[in-house]
Amino acid sequence: MSPEGQLTESTWEHVQQAPPDPIIGVTDAWRADPDPRKLNLGVGAYRTEEGKPYVLKAVREAEQQILADPAMNKEYLPISGNPEFNRLARTLALGPSSPAILQNRVATVQALSGTGALRVGAEFLSTHLPSAFPRIVYLPSPTWGNHKSIFAKAGFQVREYRYFCAATRGLDFAGMVADLKAAPPGSVLLLHACAHNPTGVDPSPEQWKQLLKVTTEGQLIPFFDMAYQGFASGDLDADAASVRLFVDAGLELVLGQSFAKNMGLYGERAGALSVVCKSKEVATRVESQLKLVIRPMYSNPPMHGAAIAARVMGDPKLNALWKEELRGMADRIKLMRQVLYDQLVARNVPGDWSFVLKQIGMFSFTGMTRPQCELLVSKWHVHLTLDGRISMAGLSATTAPYLAEAIADVMKSA
Ligand code: LMR
Repeated sequence: MSPEGQLTESTWEHVQQAPPDPIIGVTDAWRADPDPRKLNLGVGAYRTEEGKPYVLKAVREAEQQILADPAMNKEYLPISGNPEFNRLARTLALGPSSPAILQNRVATVQALSGTGALRVGAEFLSTHLPSAFPRIVYLPSPTWGNHKSIFAKAGFQVREYRYFCAATRGLDFAGMVADLKAAPPGSVLLLHACAHNPTGVDPSPEQWKQLLKVTTEGQLIPFFDMAYQGFASGDLDADAASVRLFVDAGLELVLGQSFAKNMGLYGERAGALSVVCKSKEVATRVESQLKLVIRPMYSNPPMHGAAIAARVMGDPKLNALWKEELRGMADRIKLMRQVLYDQLVARNVPGDWSFVLKQIGMFSFTGMTRPQCELLVSKWHVHLTLDGRISMAGLSATTAPYLAEAIADVMKSA
């Protein structure tokens, strides 16, 4: 202490420098890179052919309508968020003729995008799973970098199930099923509804049916993370097939939705958390408890992104425009897969690169090693996550040949 009674050292002197986030930190490194050739293929955010962020026309139009609406105000939303947004979001996921929708047995709250939905959902499960159930969550290996921390923060023991097969760059379905069959009953099973992040590898419709059986027989609690509805195939209904299969079979489940990617609302944090229940009465009680999770965390959610998404989903004209734009984004990503594949083949890069065409969604999981990825960053200024994931959405017809050249080089030298 100094004579004035002040501490001479900072109270936080012992605090260690934390490492950068493995995904968001890539964007920071890209920003700081002065090289004009630099490419950001790290974060999963859609870019135009010119490499620019894209605000959907449907979103701009909805925003204009909101601004012009004399009834618009900036009052607090309810703790559970915008009720119209919640209704439309769960209907988008489950389909208007879903038995759960028709029977009014889905509790939905607005969430701070997909991450917020997962965090609130995990907290709810940790508190309200029956006491005899273990607090264990099974995550695919690999999975999105944030899943582990989200569930660990909510008090879950995190375990992995086999998912990606490095040799085929496809799904290790037998390994997945074996691991899930060994899971203790009552464990939470995290499933990517479509466009698995980071691998771009999804189970086939037939494999989803088998997963439904394993989940039911093993008494696992499914938690679907649906961050890419519409981005896998370009079709919102087709991409929701896995979730609908489980709901239509009568299972109770938890579902996180994000409008970051499919509406380009990244920074608006518009998402939803739904708990599909056996009855309307249970759903009402579940919703009341979800509110108790939310209130001490952040009180109530922000209104603007949800207001935009509600208009885009609810207005037939905007809805049609959105679907057209969504298909356009998905198609451009598919085209980038073809361009990159052709460029790799043209350069005789060793190995079978057909997985670039087969994997779906925003990412391609290349199987490149960490040293190869590090060389891509340091020598070629191609910024990517060091697990070898590249965001196909960040490529263009002009940058794809450059990436192919860079990959050809690092495959030789690293
Ligand atoms: C990603 O995986 O790149 C995105 O989901 C963005 C994020 O928050 O990590």
